[in-house]
Amino acid sequence: MAKCLVCNSSYDSFISFGRQPLANGFLLEKDFGKEYFFDMKVGFCSNCKMVQLVEQPNREQMFHENYAFYSSTSSYMVKHFEKFSETLLSRYVKSPDSFVVEMGSNDGIMLQNFAKKGIKHLGIEPSANVAQVARERGVNTVVEFFDSNLARKIVSQDGQADAFFASNVMCHIPYIGSIVEGVKILLKPSGVMAFEDPYLGDIIDKTSYDQIYDEHVFFFSLLSVSHVFEKYGMELIDIEPQITHGGSMRYFLANKGAYQVSNRVKEQINLEKEIGLEKMDVYQKFASNVKKSKDDLLEILRKIKSEGKTVIGYGATSKSTTIMNYCGITPDLIDYISDTTPIKQGKFSPGMHIPVKSYEHFVKKKPDYALLFAWNHKEEIRSKEKDYCNAKGKWITHVPNVHIYC
Ligand code: TYD
Ligand code: ZN
Repeated sequence: MAKCLVCNSSYDSFISFGRQPLANGFLLEKDFGKEYFFDMKVGFCSNCKMVQLVEQPNREQMFHENYAFYSSTSSYMVKHFEKFSETLLSRYVKSPDSFVVEMGSNDGIMLQNFAKKGIKHLGIEPSANVAQVARERGVNTVVEFFDSNLARKIVSQDGQADAFFASNVMCHIPYIGSIVEGVKILLKPSGVMAFEDPYLGDIIDKTSYDQIYDEHVFFFSLLSVSHVFEKYGMELIDIEPQITHGGSMRYFLANKGAYQVSNRVKEQINLEKEIGLEKMDVYQKFASNVKKSKDDLLEILRKIKSEGKTVIGYGATSKSTTIMNYCGITPDLIDYISDTTPIKQGKFSPGMHIPVKSYEHFVKKKPDYALLFAWNHKEEIRSKEKDYCNAKGKWITHVPNVHIYC
């Protein structure tokens, strides 16, 4: 029995992935003996409906001065955040005197759209290396972790904010109550919080268990998000499903009664109840689907290897760490992982120690099969890799079930 991070009720886990390293812990050979591992289990709190990691490594292990993730490496994501900013500007950030704050602003991919328009903004980013890239882009950024204390400090220096955003960040923070308390302090009475994260409904539907790794503490649904914010007098006013990260949900929240609640909120909550996201059964079924996904993937990889064919991984994603360590994909099954991020290249994957090589390796000597670890960018990659398919290269994916395609 574990204690819920949101409501402190006791709850049970429904799946265990065994010993897992840090998902973004790409490392050099000399550091193989120093890796950090934790026991990765996920549970469901039937009281507040939150699906959560049972044990979390401490945050300084994950988000530090050498954090290997730069949001702007994907051109699709650059466009995604440009559109997100347009939505906010047209609905909630209409005045030129507005003040907007973003938590986990990374390399400024979102806030640059406000900075360019001369709108007062502040990015909060704990990883110094990515924060520096943002500053070079003209995005005001402080290297800090957001909480209620920082919220008070910002209000005393800059006043209250019209909007607060967080993309792929809320689900990272175990002390979510303190974040929401901070949001409440920071926002004007008419202020809006907009955040997005991978959506639990998609994870269950697609058996995309690779969304589960150390950095993702919570797997949100409307049911659980409503519960978290209710305690602070806030409510969901709208939602917008997103295709990013293999299926995400964007949530808009405000002080209770400040805005009309969209019908989309009620409809989606009804849908969640129909799927059964408020009951344990659906999570037990998910656990058996995950086990089958592992068995099917290993069977395919072993068969390909026995035929003397080459297989590589495409995209050294955080998600791939869960797949490789849970399935036991060792360097004899995958030759290397191709990735376009310079600081990952020349390193090895966490736990299984598969080498990460530059994209040029993939282009020069096309493998027979590529396991699509960056499956959330499937369309972008498909249109970019026509030559690979023309050269008879095949893709392997595990989403929504394990299969080969070209
Ligand atoms: P991302 O989709 O953010 O996944 P995660 O959140 O699981 O880390 O990561 C994309 C990774 O894949 C990143 O390291 C860059 C790499 N990548 C490629 O190498 N080639 C590509 O065409 C794309 C889209 C991504
Ligand atoms: Zn709970």
